[in-house]
Amino acid sequence: MSTQNAAPIRRTTVPQIAARKGKEPIVSLTSYHAHTAAIVDKYADFILVGDSLGMVMHGMETTVGVPMDLMIMHGRAVVRGTKRALIVVDMPFGSYEESPNVAFRNAATIMKETQCGAVKLEGGKRMAKTIHFLTQRGIPVMAHIGLTPQSSHTLGGFKTQGRDEDSWPLHIEDAKAVAEAGAFAVVVEGVVEPLAQEITRAVDIPTIGIGASAQCDGQILVLEDMLGLGDWAPKFVKVYGRLGEEIENAVSAYADEVKSRAFPGEDHIYK
Ligand code: KIV
Repeated sequence: MSTQNAAPIRRTTVPQIAARKGKEPIVSLTSYHAHTAAIVDKYADFILVGDSLGMVMHGMETTVGVPMDLMIMHGRAVVRGTKRALIVVDMPFGSYEESPNVAFRNAATIMKETQCGAVKLEGGKRMAKTIHFLTQRGIPVMAHIGLTPQSSHTLGGFKTQGRDEDSWPLHIEDAKAVAEAGAFAVVVEGVVEPLAQEITRAVDIPTIGIGASAQCDGQILVLEDMLGLGDWAPKFVKVYGRLGEEIENAVSAYADEVKSRAFPGEDHIYK
């Protein structure tokens, strides 16, 4: 279909991600705003506007408090800042668990308001009916199993899953249920390596690991964690940058200059 824009935007599609099962590993990062998204867009197959933004950007203790309008606002910014990657937006806690109808209404709102290409929701077997309902109605769904942060109060914190081998069948059942329900990919968070391997073998959709080893079909990390923006990152994250230090050095150099009246830009603007 033609548009008024000069060059049509051609993004990675949901079927293209699904077709990567067992092939070239899928590269993904989170992003919450247009500027970083534009950089990530050059390298990632899909970008997740994760509800982790509540903790990373808004100082919340968990993701439970994230509202729909925040996801929509950040989702819009990321879509605007990108042109290659598939954009997936998280459904926040409380927006999909009640019933398939409620989930459809909210997922459709997220897709219409942000123009993203898919939504993600947490839960395995218990969400299978909802995933089926959404995917049958034109909403591509990425599932999320293992450590599901929206249930951190029930799980007793952000704990690695599958340390006890007796729990593996439940996680594998979750993966199979979301795949059978029509999810095009599944995030597998915080599970031990042999379980990640079993899950990846058990389903014919790509598994996207986070803290789940290299046994998955791809990996996602929270951008700010791998950039070294905060004082702390989860143990499984390889930190590729020292952005926190760089920002602090720049801000303190700026503060020193202003205090000594060497106002930046003075020469060009005022003389
Ligand atoms: O919210 C988020 O950033 C996520 C990733 C950690 C997978 O769900």
